Amino acid sequence: MELLDGRLVSAQILQQLTEQVERLRAAGKRPPHLVAMLIGHNGASETYVASKIRRCAEVGYDSTLIRFEESVSEGEVLAKIAEINNDPGIDGLIVQLPLPAHIDPHKVTIAIDPMKDVDGFHPENFGRVAKGLGGFIAATPLGILRLLEHYQIQTAGAHAVVLGRSQIVGLPMSVLLQRSTRTGNATVTLCHSRTRNLAEVTRSADILIAAIGQPGFVTADMVKKGAVVIDVGLTRVEDSSKKAGFRLAGDVDFATVAPKCSYITPVPGGVGLMTICGLLENTMRAYDGKSRQLKAAE
Ligand code: GUN
Repeated sequence: MELLDGRLVSAQILQQLTEQVERLRAAGKRPPHLVAMLIGHNGASETYVASKIRRCAEVGYDSTLIRFEESVSEGEVLAKIAEINNDPGIDGLIVQLPLPAHIDPHKVTIAIDPMKDVDGFHPENFGRVAKGLGGFIAATPLGILRLLEHYQIQTAGAHAVVLGRSQIVGLPMSVLLQRSTRTGNATVTLCHSRTRNLAEVTRSADILIAAIGQPGFVTADMVKKGAVVIDVGLTRVEDSSKKAGFRLAGDVDFATVAPKCSYITPVPGGVGLMTICGLLENTMRAYDGKSRQLKAAE
């Protein structure tokens, strides 16, 4: 069993981005600028946004955090998005999810200029990616593709099973893995809460991607020997032995599943770090105006 090491791969990608920013500065150009919008005080969202802003500083990007109280109106949020869309000094905009119940996430997503949508959540970007027309790939799926690339995991002809149909991870991941690309050409099964005989399906997976947010859901009996297991789960679980009072738990019961795998991502130290890389990679593409340009691998 080998670890798919998000620390190692993300450090390499962040180093490349840092060097790109240094070249821009040396040429007298401004660095890329990412704006993150955070509404309310959800603990996990606070942590994620803080690490996105911190990573921007590490690679030399400019970043701005815009905060709204939980009580902000949908109209105010949409007006701020329009303002950012029209600001040529801003390359990327993300609105951290989940949103308070009175704000429609679809309206917010659609309001973001697709060229600045570095989360890749806008239907135009999702549609472009699905049709192989370029466009921003959502940050977590992009990070997973980078892990698969780095470890030269053979996706072509493999049975890839995606657990969870979220708009952020499961759905785009299932679309990406079936595309005719270097990290695609898999036979994909997308499983969800209504899937029958789930363990039977997951046991036939050569590549299993768990993205349901239920700690320890995937147990050893659900995994084929030699499978590649990617754990997207990052749920806070109470743990009084930790200073923060919680630990982060993946969807996979690592202790029992890992010995059966050829490769597996740890939590933490796996996909979470790659998500931020995906975001920063997208922000550089937005800056370059290359979001729609197909790369050789695509
Ligand atoms: N909430 C959980 N993951 C994400 C993400 O990748 N982007 C945003 N904007 N919100 C999230």
